[in-house]
Amino acid sequence: MYNFTLQMPTRIHFGKGQISHLSELKESGSKVLLVYGGGSIKRNGIYDAAMKILKEAGLTVEELSGVEPNPKIETVRKGVALCKEDSIDMVLAIGGGSTIDCAKVVAAGAKYDGDAWDLVIHPEKIQGALPIYSVLTLSATGSEMDEFAVISDMTKNEKWGTAAPCLKPEMSVLDPTYTYSVSKKQTAAGTADMISHTFENYFSFETGADVQKRFGESLLKVMFKYGPVALHEPENYDARANLMWAASLAINGLTRVGNAPAWCVHPMEHELSAFYDITHGQGLAILTPVWMEHILSDKTAPIFAEYGRNVWGITAANDMSAAKEAIEKTREFFFTTMELPKNLREVGITEQTHFEKMAEKAAAGCVGCFVPLSKEDIIEIFKAAF
Ligand code: NZQ
Ligand code: ZN
Repeated sequence: MYNFTLQMPTRIHFGKGQISHLSELKESGSKVLLVYGGGSIKRNGIYDAAMKILKEAGLTVEELSGVEPNPKIETVRKGVALCKEDSIDMVLAIGGGSTIDCAKVVAAGAKYDGDAWDLVIHPEKIQGALPIYSVLTLSATGSEMDEFAVISDMTKNEKWGTAAPCLKPEMSVLDPTYTYSVSKKQTAAGTADMISHTFENYFSFETGADVQKRFGESLLKVMFKYGPVALHEPENYDARANLMWAASLAINGLTRVGNAPAWCVHPMEHELSAFYDITHGQGLAILTPVWMEHILSDKTAPIFAEYGRNVWGITAANDMSAAKEAIEKTREFFFTTMELPKNLREVGITEQTHFEKMAEKAAAGCVGCFVPLSKEDIIEIFKAAF
């Protein structure tokens, strides 16, 4: 197990009715910038519930609405301007990962003199942020408890993740009932995303990190068990609750520290979203089995076999056979059980014009990953996923 430092400062209020804790925002001042997306929080009543609590707590609320899935830098800039003009004290995101990510960079931009895009491409320029709070409405990214934020500039076909300790929320409300209204498509994509986060941390050649590995396997079992339940019974509390908590734990550092190499499927997916604005979790589901097959070798087979045996109960004694079966189980879960799109054409990517450019950028992002990928490897993976 490698050395590590881990700090998880986010206060989590988990369960039904925990939105009442929004009154705690008073600890950070009196002026709140409420950040939300395209209106789901108005349709399902979370907006009204939050506003009531904030008003009763004596807080003043400004709003930044319309945050897009795959949040755009233009929206971040609007939020930063609001914070600066109105001397905002804190930022409250209510929504999925896109809304929370946008709120994070708004909070950092409020403390920065230059353009907010600098903070996306140069994380080291993030020197501070307004206090960040969140009410999560979609289980997927783990942004509610982590230090990452992913922002796009579609004018340049760029989508990059930034990170800083001060981007970890002060407090997040996780009420599983708020995810009852999440569509089938987003439930499936969110499940694929949390599985991918667990995979990115889990697949490594480190042999001494048993805590992280066994913990990752437990998370995967929970995701494989409850993803289909949530898909077919959107108001099943246990399914929504387990997925919500598993998603937070998959990326908050618990299974990454001491164990994980750099991520590699995410840099490839971010290029798909940067060029085609596709749903993140769908892109990950399409790429993952193809990537596993591409890197399958005598060296990686024991690692994939370990996953297959401990998560899927595969009994094949031969590592290569067990690894192949594990890859097949993964593929079947995404495409049959979770009904996710199977290839790039199914998400509207109908030509390969940008593959070379995308692969070049992705290769720069996966330096030091589980199995190093060259530009040529990534082009092959994109083509196999087409
Ligand atoms: O915008 P609204 O109207 O709220 O609708 C959203 C959006 O259309 C809807 N939705 C959210 N909660 C809902 C709901 N609809 C009904 N009921 C609810 N309770 O779902 C749609 C997708 O929302 P979005 O926030 O985009 O989804 P997700 O949480 O999957 O976030 C994806 C973004 O996060 C980034 C991705 O790249 C992508 O940009 N990621 C962030 C990470 C992080 N911060 O750590 C890590 C991830 O790997 C990922 O890259
Ligand atoms: Zn992800």
